[in-house]
Amino acid sequence: MNEGRRAKGEGRYKIGVIPGDGTGPEVVREGLKVLQAVGEATGFECEFVHYDFGGERYLRTGEVLPDSALDEFKQLDALYLGAIGHPDVRPGILERGVLLKIRFTLDQYVNLRPVKLYPGVETPIKGKGPEDIDFVVVRENTEGLYSGAGRFEKKNTPDEVAVQESINTWKGVERCIRFAFEYCRERNKEKKLMLCGKTNVLTYAWDLWERVFYRVAEKYPDIKTDYAHVDAICMWFVKNPEWFDVIVTDNMFGDIITDLGAMIQGGMGIAAGANINPEGVSMFEPIGGSAPKYAGKNVINPLAAISAAQMMLDFLGEKGAADLVEKAITKVTSEKLKSLSAGQMGYTTTEVGDMVAGYIVT
Ligand code: IPM
Ligand code: MN
Repeated sequence: MNEGRRAKGEGRYKIGVIPGDGTGPEVVREGLKVLQAVGEATGFECEFVHYDFGGERYLRTGEVLPDSALDEFKQLDALYLGAIGHPDVRPGILERGVLLKIRFTLDQYVNLRPVKLYPGVETPIKGKGPEDIDFVVVRENTEGLYSGAGRFEKKNTPDEVAVQESINTWKGVERCIRFAFEYCRERNKEKKLMLCGKTNVLTYAWDLWERVFYRVAEKYPDIKTDYAHVDAICMWFVKNPEWFDVIVTDNMFGDIITDLGAMIQGGMGIAAGANINPEGVSMFEPIGGSAPKYAGKNVINPLAAISAAQMMLDFLGEKGAADLVEKAITKVTSEKLKSLSAGQMGYTTTEVGDMVAGYIVT
């Protein structure tokens, strides 16, 4: 597996690109533009391999994501995804068939989601600024309620029971928690890692998580540890976002709290995420979805996708390039955009991409 991939930081990368549905292709186009610009400025090259998976292809051919494509993905250095989800396709088919299939098959066991308020961006939280909102959620990405385990009993009768099981393996939880400790150490901000769970009610899953958390913590005496229930964390995201440095949690809670996180950082227009397999092929995506009502209008904000490209550079080992992209994003948010919302930026999607690419200077 992965024998075709090249070493990190080597300067030549083969990137699989899945623009996907809705506004996905528009934002991915701008991300690729920025990658091209920063590649020229700092001296690395990307070969882009385009894949048309998503709603349109499914409606045309009935094919969601063939195994042959997954085999090809294993030969790449990274995947760059726009958005998955189509109004004419029943919910679940594409999400499970493309997005979750890639996460699971490539064993991308961490979903890393930074919550960072860029200068110039408005947060709905009164009195808070960029110095208060800057933390990272490490979401477990292959287990929990997302494993798909469960069953119906007496389906379509008045006595119907639907069971949805959360599967948490020691190994799966441990590798995610270990990643979070390592990440927290490397981030070197406050060196504070908080476990986000629900030990007071979900007494099997969170018992295991808590035991693993404190066991792994023994190896990281330099990292301060803490625990909070997920509902309390939601409250504090809004009341005291400055309390957080790195948070680790399971798949379902991570899904929910990172949408809340996206809102406090200014909205889906800027929120990016990385699906990481540290030993394999990772996938980088804006977390906002396909926003079909804005598709094809050139009004959607591409910064989330550009920020996902920046995370990709970081993970490929192109730290200098990643820093340049982050600086260029900061310049655009602080000096240019009126708002991050689609249609209210004061610029088109293309113009925002052009500005970021134009601000890449060495
Ligand atoms: C996300 C999305 C996905 C998830 C959906 C589209 C399956 O909401 O990336 O957060 O639930 O993980
Ligand atoms: Mn989500």
